[in-house]
Amino acid sequence: MKAPAPTTDSFKFVDLFCGIGGFHYAAKQAAEKAGVTLKAVAASDIDTHCQDSYEENFGFRPMGDITRIQAEDIPDHDLLLAGFPCQPFSIIGQMQGFNDTRGTLFFDIARIIESKRPRAFVLENVKMLRGHNRGKTLNRILEVCRDLGYQVDFRILNALDFGLPQKRERIFIVGFRDAVDFVWPEGNVPMKQLDDVLEQNPPQQYYASEAIRAARIAKQEPTAETTVWHENKSGNISAYPYACALRAGASYNYLLVNGERRLTGREMLRLQGFPDSFKIIKSYTQTRKQAGNSLPVPVAGAVLTNVLTALKAGTGNEYCYLGSQGILMEENADYGKETTLEKR
Ligand SMILES: C[S@@+](CC[C@H](N)C(=O)[O-])C[C@H]1O[C@@H](n2cnc3c(N)ncnc32)[C@H](O)[C@@H]1O
Repeated sequence: MKAPAPTTDSFKFVDLFCGIGGFHYAAKQAAEKAGVTLKAVAASDIDTHCQDSYEENFGFRPMGDITRIQAEDIPDHDLLLAGFPCQPFSIIGQMQGFNDTRGTLFFDIARIIESKRPRAFVLENVKMLRGHNRGKTLNRILEVCRDLGYQVDFRILNALDFGLPQKRERIFIVGFRDAVDFVWPEGNVPMKQLDDVLEQNPPQQYYASEAIRAARIAKQEPTAETTVWHENKSGNISAYPYACALRAGASYNYLLVNGERRLTGREMLRLQGFPDSFKIIKSYTQTRKQAGNSLPVPVAGAVLTNVLTALKAGTGNEYCYLGSQGILMEENADYGKETTLEKR
């Protein structure tokens, strides 16, 4: 039977695969909304450009390669955050147990959870994790988390529902060590207009060549309102009043404002919900990669607000766990079956 969660309003977190700190900004915003104090005690990213940007903006340097960090060298924490890369998916789905995930970056998350026993974790990844290998990959991840003693659930959330003019769907997986009342955020936040995100007079260097602009206009009528034009792999062009998902490795002309210019580094960061106080210290190429790899800050912020609110409250609830809809479920009930709470 799960222990009731204690109430508290002071938390420590670690930021794994931290990139340039999307989760860190989200955590700060969430702590304010949930009325708790939240302190970062460690971060890790293998990319030295990300480490530089993170240090410049958050005042401490992330550790490097997570596979080389012993769990004991990571400070104790209440909340583990990890926007881990999708690289290991192809293998996880075939695996049988926790030790079988060795050699994948998810294994490193799991071994740190096993050793440090944080009160909660939030993992973020691409939407396709849900369907990968006919759902086996995600199931393996959820099973490993449950085997470690955590109640887990996941949701696909879209940045468009959380106020950003970017269609970016991501999977969020939450896990709780103790029984808590957690609900997923609904979103329903009105979308910011592109004109509120775009810079007024970006330098000429962001404009595509005449040939590219002509090729775009030949395929798509210019629109009266501001739109971002998206060229898919087959060369088809679509124009939307929001950006399609930023991608770290996409071609420079993958997204063009009004079919004529690239997004600036600041615009890409704004499309991910980074505040303008974020200091850009890297080249355009690096900033583009960093922003493209990042998570949508307000989405993570909304999830974390509800996680912190749940942890702050505790529940004293001994018989319940979190079901697939974020509904409290009776202990030992079938997963996914809604039940009535027996004891609160
Ligand atoms: C999808 S990005 C996450 C970005 C981050 N959530 C953000 O909002 O900026 C994945 C990150 O994992 C990092 N990474 C990949 N392998 C790693 C490893 N072995 N140890 C630590 N970080 C790693 C990459 O450098 C990249 O920044």
